[in-house]
Amino acid sequence: MRNVEVRLHRDFAIGSTHPRLFGAFIEHLGRCIYGGIFEPGHPTADAKGFRQDVLSLVRDLAPTIMRYPGGNFVSGYNWEDGVGPVGKRPRRLDLAWMSTETNQFGTNEFIDWCRLAGIEPMLAVNLGTRGPDAARNLVEYCNHPSGTALSDLRRAHGWLEPHAIKFWCLGNEMDGPWQIEAKTAAEYGRVACEAAKVMKWVDRGLELAACGSSGRRMRTFGQWEDTVLEHTFDHVEFISLHTYLNNYDGDTPAFLASCDLMDSFIEEVVAIADAVAARRRSSKRIMLSFDEWNVWYRTRRDRRARVRAGWPEAPPILEEIYNVEDALAFGGMCVSLLNHADRVTAACLAQLVNAIAPIMTETGGPAWRQTIFWPFLHFSRLGRGRVLRTHVDCPTYAARYNDPNGPIDEYFPLPAVPYLKLAAVHDENGGLLTLFALNRSLEEPLPLSLQAGGFHKIAVKQAMQLSDPDLKAVNTKGDPDRVRPAALSAVEAAGDRLEATLPPASWNVIQLSLA
Ligand code: AHR
Repeated sequence: MRNVEVRLHRDFAIGSTHPRLFGAFIEHLGRCIYGGIFEPGHPTADAKGFRQDVLSLVRDLAPTIMRYPGGNFVSGYNWEDGVGPVGKRPRRLDLAWMSTETNQFGTNEFIDWCRLAGIEPMLAVNLGTRGPDAARNLVEYCNHPSGTALSDLRRAHGWLEPHAIKFWCLGNEMDGPWQIEAKTAAEYGRVACEAAKVMKWVDRGLELAACGSSGRRMRTFGQWEDTVLEHTFDHVEFISLHTYLNNYDGDTPAFLASCDLMDSFIEEVVAIADAVAARRRSSKRIMLSFDEWNVWYRTRRDRRARVRAGWPEAPPILEEIYNVEDALAFGGMCVSLLNHADRVTAACLAQLVNAIAPIMTETGGPAWRQTIFWPFLHFSRLGRGRVLRTHVDCPTYAARYNDPNGPIDEYFPLPAVPYLKLAAVHDENGGLLTLFALNRSLEEPLPLSLQAGGFHKIAVKQAMQLSDPDLKAVNTKGDPDRVRPAALSAVEAAGDRLEATLPPASWNVIQLSLA
C-alpha cells in the first residue's frame, strides 16, 4: 500500500471527551447480573455477593458510568419489586428475556456496586408498562433526602443518604416492535415529556435522555427523532442512539467498514436535533447518548441463543464469543465515538458481563477477558482529553454492509472506505498524544507518516497492536489470553513526525509523549 499521510495540529480540536463517553451497561439479562457481577457464595464474593474477580476486571476497564436495569427488561420492570427485604421480594416473569426475575438484586444493590467500583450510576425508567408516576416515585425514592413516604422508605431499607443519581433514560427503545408496550413517536414523545417534567420537579438537577431510534436501519429513523424532540426539546438534555454491528455475511472488509455508518448515524441525529432547535430559534444543543453500542449478531437472531424454554433464572443467553475481527470492528466504533466527542457526551458499551460482554464468568469459577476487552480498555484509559481533527490521505475500498436486524432488510453501500480509521487524543495534563488506528486492509501492512503540527518534539512512549493471522481466533476459559495486545515495533518519531507500519487487519494504539 502506498504511504498514508496524516496531518493534525495541536490547535485544531473537535472537542474534549466527556467523562461519560466511557460508560457501560448492565441489564437484568441472562447472567449479566446474576452469576456475573453478583454471585453470593462465589469464592471471591464479598458480604454483599459482589464478585471481586469481576470487579477487578471492571476496574481495569475503568468505565465511568453504568446504565441499569435495562434495556428491554426495564419496559416491564416494577422498581418497587427490587427494594426492601430481599426475602420478601417477588419472583416475576420477565417478558423481555422470557426468564424468571428473582429480584435479589435491585436499585440499592446497583448503587452499592457502582460506589464500590467508582462508577457513576445511570438509571432507566419504565415507560413501557408504566409511566410518569412510577418514574417520579423512583426519583423521589432515590434522590429525595428524607421526610416523605418514599425517601423515608429508602432510609428504612438501610440507605440513609440520597443516591444522588443525575443521569436518567426515559425508557428504552420505545420505537422497537419487540419492546414491551412499544409506542409511536407521538405517543412516546408525549409520555416522555410528561415523565421528564415530573421527574425534574422532584429533582431539578437531573439530566435526561429521550429514546432515539433503536438503530439507523429502523423504518421510522429520522421522523422518530424529529417528533420525539418536538415533544421533549425543552425538558431533556440528550437523545439516545443504539448500534450493534454484525458480520452475518462473513464479509470482513464490509464488517470493518460498517463502523463508518456509526459516524453517519451520529451526524444525522445531530442534524435532526439541531433542526428542531432551529425551528425554535433556540441555541440549546441536545447532546447524544450512545447508550448501547457493540458487535452483536451470533446470539441475536438465533432464538435458542436468545431464549431458553421453561422460564429459567439467569439463563446463559446472548453469550456471544468475540473473535479478533470483532475486536477490530469494535475498535473502529471507539474511533467513531472519539471523533464525535463534541456531541456524543455519553456512551455505554452494551454490555459488561456475560451477555454480549468483554468480561465472561464461570459460575463458581474464574472470570476472563474476551477480545473486545482490549480495545475498550485502550479507549477508556487512554482516550481522555482533546480529540484533534485529523486529515487522512489514504487509499480506499468499496464495501456493501448487510444490516438485516430490523424492519428494513437492506444493504448499505460504502463506496469509499479509507483503509485507515484514526482518532488522535491530546492529554494536555499528561503531556501525551495518543493515536487509535485501525488498519482495515486484510492483506497489506499500512505505512503511516504523521505530522503532528504544533508539537515540536514527540517521542514514542508505548505502542501496542492487536492482530492475529487467524481473524476468527477467540479467547476461551481454557485459553483466556490467546488474543491480547502485543508490542508494535515498527514505530519511530523524530521532531514532529511519526513513521509507523501497522500490520494487516490490526488495532493499534500509539502513545506519544510531548516535549
Ligand atoms: O443489549 C441487549 C438489548 O439490545 C437491550 O436490552 C435492548 O435495549 C437492545 O435491543
